[in-house]
Amino acid sequence: MKNLILEKLKQKKEYMSGEELSQLLNVSRTAIWKHINELRNEGYNIVSSTKKGYILAETPDLLDSRELRIPKGQIIGRELVHFNEIDSTNNYAKKIANEGCQHGTIVVADRQTMGRGRVGRQWESFSSEGLWFSIVLRPDLEPEYIQIVTLAAAVAVVEGILENQGIVCGIKWPNDIILDNYKLGGILTELSAEPDHINYVVVGIGININQDKNAFGDEIKNKATSLKIHTGKRISRVRLLESILSKFEQIYSELIQGKTKEIINIWSKYSVTIGKEVRIIFKGNEYVGLAQAISPDGKLIVKCNDGEFREISSGEIQVRGLLGYI
Ligand code: BTN
Repeated sequence: MKNLILEKLKQKKEYMSGEELSQLLNVSRTAIWKHINELRNEGYNIVSSTKKGYILAETPDLLDSRELRIPKGQIIGRELVHFNEIDSTNNYAKKIANEGCQHGTIVVADRQTMGRGRVGRQWESFSSEGLWFSIVLRPDLEPEYIQIVTLAAAVAVVEGILENQGIVCGIKWPNDIILDNYKLGGILTELSAEPDHINYVVVGIGININQDKNAFGDEIKNKATSLKIHTGKRISRVRLLESILSKFEQIYSELIQGKTKEIINIWSKYSVTIGKEVRIIFKGNEYVGLAQAISPDGKLIVKCNDGEFREISSGEIQVRGLLGYI
């Protein structure tokens, strides 16, 4: 009932009297008043006037299906699962992917109690000031092209931020989103596959949005930034999420059409890694070299100081020049 009232107020965009709502929805005026108060508690700014009734003045920055607008025909985000709090959206996405959820389903949480980063790290996401979400994909791709999915996701994040905020971010291979030389976000891609077939991919994306500098824990406070720190103002998470999902939809369709070369070219345009000196901690060994390019299957090609070219697909890489090594 509460959501029906909300829909009516959104459609009307003008004052609606308690009487009008109660007749339309066949409930008492007291019930209408009770639900209006519940909506207010959730952050909806509903103004009331004794003569004119209720009007929806402002919607809150909620990441649920009442506020997230997915254009008709868009596959990414057509199914949405929202939690106020969960251990990790990637964990939940993997669970429902194993149970057969649809391609394009997204799992979003306001807070994660056990957010996970790459290489077994923790991902700080206790506060509801960030955007923490996972996308379930069922791509018809050979498992070795998984790295391209991560590159595509990084491009979608950067282009979503550009469209929504006009801010140009960089990408540190393979998946760190960089702003003002600090880490703004990251991507954790997890795969379930047979030798020649991908069952599903979960692309987990974390972006710092409205945190202040002092909100970050000791471990990351000298490395992390947020969009609010950069712009000085609060940013709507839900509108930004819409932009990222729509960019992801576009780039994913290119990926499926086999346009991996084009994706690598766009990725390289935003790269802060190519042409830079990098230090690689790879299979227990450490190398320094010059990052040259991305291979057709998404690996980083590095000319190491020992003269060897190495193609890096996992492990750690640190880019010199960005706050030392980040
Ligand atoms: C990194 O280490 O840079 C990757 C960070 C990925 C964090 C996101 S937040 C949403 C999703 N759920 C998780 O537990 N991790 C990813």
